[in-house]
Amino acid sequence: MMNEDVVIDPWGSSQSTDYSRIIDQFGLSSMDSLKIPNPSKLHRRGIVFAHRELDTILHCQNQGNPFGVLTGLMPSGRMHLGHSMVIEQVEWFQNQGGDVTIAVADLESNATRGVSLEEGRKIATEEYVANYVALGLDPSKTNVYFQSERSVVQRLGFQLGKRTNLSEFEAIYGFDGGTNLAHVQAPLVQAGDILHPQLDEYGGLRPIVVPVGVDQDPHLRLTRGLASKTNWFNVNDAKVGLQVGVSIQEDNQSVMGVEPNGRVNKDVQANLFSKIVNSISSLGFSDINSNPKHGTVNIPGATSKDKYSIKMNLLSLERELGGFGLLSPSSTYHRFAVGMTGDKMSSSKPKTTLFLNDDVVTAEKKIKKSFSGGQATIEEHRRLGGDPDKDVAYQYMMYFFENDDDYLSEINQEYRAGKILAGEMKQLCIDRATEWLTELSEKRDETSHLVKDFFEN
Ligand code: TRP
Repeated sequence: MMNEDVVIDPWGSSQSTDYSRIIDQFGLSSMDSLKIPNPSKLHRRGIVFAHRELDTILHCQNQGNPFGVLTGLMPSGRMHLGHSMVIEQVEWFQNQGGDVTIAVADLESNATRGVSLEEGRKIATEEYVANYVALGLDPSKTNVYFQSERSVVQRLGFQLGKRTNLSEFEAIYGFDGGTNLAHVQAPLVQAGDILHPQLDEYGGLRPIVVPVGVDQDPHLRLTRGLASKTNWFNVNDAKVGLQVGVSIQEDNQSVMGVEPNGRVNKDVQANLFSKIVNSISSLGFSDINSNPKHGTVNIPGATSKDKYSIKMNLLSLERELGGFGLLSPSSTYHRFAVGMTGDKMSSSKPKTTLFLNDDVVTAEKKIKKSFSGGQATIEEHRRLGGDPDKDVAYQYMMYFFENDDDYLSEINQEYRAGKILAGEMKQLCIDRATEWLTELSEKRDETSHLVKDFFEN
């Protein structure tokens, strides 16, 4: 078991595609148990395959409560189909009422890929944001910023650094003594990216969902841990009902009534606990037992369904008292489409993917040469059928180009049955890709004047 563990390296070039093992090993939740309203094709086809606490976001969607979406891009190279998948999800959340923030990881790209900040800015604007608007993101509800320019993100990263150490980085990322420190800083800045939209000056306390490829999960594990370690009040299941536990930390001692000499100031403590009780009773609970001596407050009548609203009230209280009041982010994970050659997609290997500004001739060539799930000869293919799970042309229809589920399952069956030949599948994909790329390129021209609106404030 030990040596079979999956390692997820956000900077690595290999990629595990053993998704059920990833779910088990990292404690992700499978999408199967959730009912997604108005599912996109990525949901319907199981491409978005796992999440952490997406229920919180769905609840907001349901109730019309505010929630935010945050994701990030590494500006290094051209935007390809794989990148567009995240944007499709962001757009979906935007249509469900989420406000959108997008981090340009120019610091990370500078430190880990040697892209200058200036170059990073140019790539982000011309390659990425120009496509975001063409893909349908609404500039009036989307804010794109640069890590290097949003000091609060860096500040938060620095401050959160206090809640972790090198051993944890070793465990999460496999770092050792030879690890470049830029790889230590990048995840902290990314934690700042993920958490800052809930600060009061960026929209305030509300759930934030981070749609990413599963390679980014280590950063989410880290960030969730950091956020919860800053929390002053923790809501847990108790034998009966729920229990709030108070966490005394270096920077909240005076609020907690702990004096510099270590003695407890009973008045301050009583005052704090009455604030906790008030905050919970405003939700309608009448039976609340406060036990300052043990640092706990019990709510026997509460159930795990009430956890979220109690937690939100206590985070607000923490903020009033001077704490961060940070809610752990939710996240969703998508599978990776295979590269066109059968390996991993990569901007630095143009043959492995289609770039969003590839012309149709280039696209056609790449699809023609793409890895096929067909048999060696036509005769064998007719007899044994092809494998759509391996066939890049089919996979790209499913991931990117074809919206109609019925049509997709029809060609899937006919391919398996040997009725559609590999070359024919490629032609179907070429036709759809041509349409898709042409439309995108027209949209890019029509919407280029909107690009600047994404960077406002
Ligand atoms: N590290 C991400 C990448 O390699 C980019 C990124 C930076 C990001 N900040 C983020 C992704 C916040 C999601 C959320 O692509």
